[in-house]
Amino acid sequence: MVVLEIFTYPDERLKQISQPVQRVDDALRTFIAELEQTMRHSPGGVGIAAPQVGRFQRIVIVDVSAKPKIANHGRMILVNPEILSWEGMVKGREGCMSVPDYTGNVMRAERVTVSALDEQGEPREYHCEGYEARAIQHEIDHLDGLLFLDRLVSRRTDLFRRKNYGEKKRRRGEGGATPR
Ligand code: NI
Repeated sequence: MVVLEIFTYPDERLKQISQPVQRVDDALRTFIAELEQTMRHSPGGVGIAAPQVGRFQRIVIVDVSAKPKIANHGRMILVNPEILSWEGMVKGREGCMSVPDYTGNVMRAERVTVSALDEQGEPREYHCEGYEARAIQHEIDHLDGLLFLDRLVSRRTDLFRRKNYGEKKRRRGEGGATPR
């Protein structure tokens, strides 16, 4: 089991823009496996992006299937993901492994269509909604050097210290405030 070090805010490296993956091969799959182990090591982790561990390539993993009663595609490995369409906007709570002490309210599209390569290098397309769509948008932001902190509706009213509320929700594995 490999747990990679996660950069945390205000580490300047989190602002770096990641480059497209040129080739999906065994070396890349090994890294993806380590990235996934790092994500799953964090309680309630539903997503992770390669630049969070210092690899500036366009790779994200999302898996919201542990959340009860929400639409999802299970484990998604997204290499070179592109959002092809956005629909609706909704405010929701987000957390991030790179921002361990806070959660925040962010506006995101309610539904997105995403294209990406899977870990075999095959092109895939997904229609995602709700919590899964939010997680994907959050992770793709990491590839462009953005954190949820950059998208807060208001820093004064939409940023929350994790203590009590956040920790409790995270332990119960519910709500929108899980690290990703
Ligand atoms: Ni994050």
